[in-house]
Amino acid sequence: MKLLVCGGAGFIGSTFVRVRLAEHGDEVTVLDKLTYAGRRENLHDVIEQIRFVHGAIEDPVAVADAVAGCQAIVNFAAETHVDRSISGPEAFIVTNMQGTHVLLEAARERGLRYVQVSTDEVYGSIEDGSFTEVSPLRPSSPYSATKTGADLLVASYFHTYGLETVICRGSNNYGPYQHPEKLIPLMILNAFAGDPLPVYGNGRNVRNWLYVEDFARGIGQVLVHGAHGEAYNCGGPDECENIEVVKRIVALTGADESLVEYVTDRPGHDRRYSLSSEKLRALGWEARVRFDEGLERTVRWYRDNAWWWEPIRTGVYRDYYERHYGRALKA
Ligand code: NAD
Ligand code: DAU
Repeated sequence: MKLLVCGGAGFIGSTFVRVRLAEHGDEVTVLDKLTYAGRRENLHDVIEQIRFVHGAIEDPVAVADAVAGCQAIVNFAAETHVDRSISGPEAFIVTNMQGTHVLLEAARERGLRYVQVSTDEVYGSIEDGSFTEVSPLRPSSPYSATKTGADLLVASYFHTYGLETVICRGSNNYGPYQHPEKLIPLMILNAFAGDPLPVYGNGRNVRNWLYVEDFARGIGQVLVHGAHGEAYNCGGPDECENIEVVKRIVALTGADESLVEYVTDRPGHDRRYSLSSEKLRALGWEARVRFDEGLERTVRWYRDNAWWWEPIRTGVYRDYYERHYGRALKA
């Protein structure tokens, strides 16, 4: 297929590009604004095999240039960090909602298939059981509210204009190339450096962990086999309390458990996410990587790829970290 992958220089988008090139031989154009979270380095091994367009999804001119010759749009481009959406929601509204609108218009004008990459956070928090695709949408944070707005806009383009849309909602991803501001890489790199491991609240919040290649394959399945107008959940095989995740990282890195520090909770912190993926399984998808194995692989990848994360950890990320956590990272 000839694909436009928006946000393809980010964590999941770059993994998706790698999987599609290696396993399906697709022709790929990446459109990416290269925000603090997007880097050409994420595509270092495949950059010669793709067309890269530097631009924003909310810019119709950049989108028109990038989409030329493509059969489908897969949209990963988003502001993705819940904490940043709490301190500054504006960019989330522009990218996640206005940007999605511009892409939907581009798809409508050209009759293209459209895949929206979405999140379990649109359903809000669940104490017991798992969300299905018909569960009510009850987002908690500015991030998840903008992702929900985007999902609803996508659904409206199917109902109103008959656009061939599909939505794929993933649970918490982890794996190589994830920006160090997210829980797992943050804890791994702080553990390597001997920096404190900041656990929000009591550490009892639960996330449903999904190895990034499994999500990439789930999105691919939805792209090819998903029914128009439908949403598909893609949840990880294991769930885990945050404090347990951090303790496993302490063990895998050989760090000292006394580095664990309980810090002020995230405002509006969702307690638990859990997705039922039955509908996606019926399309032939199955998660391949269990959390134990995936976490070990991830720690190994960060240990072996300091070239990738050192420039981030010594750059503007330090300022973000000091502002957000009220203390500096070790030099
Ligand atoms: P990320 O923050 O690593 O990457 C986002 C990418 O989008 C970056 O390359 C960034 O430069 C690009 N981008 C941001 N704003 C843009 C704009 N206006 N125009 C063009 N490009 C722009 O995010 P990620 O973790 O890879 O998430 C990708 C998608 O998957 C997002 O839509 C996110 O909501 C969704 N998702 C993420 C997870 C997760 O656990 N990380 C889980 C479920 C769903
Ligand atoms: O659930 C899917 C979502 O997962 C995606 O839609 C988001 O884009 C992605 O960022 C992620 O959101 P979370 O808020 O769940 O991920 P984060 O890594 O920020 O936090 C995971 C959990 O760890 C959450 O309960 C908050 C907690 N946490 C996080 C950080 C950064 C800490 O305890 N300490 C921290 O320093």
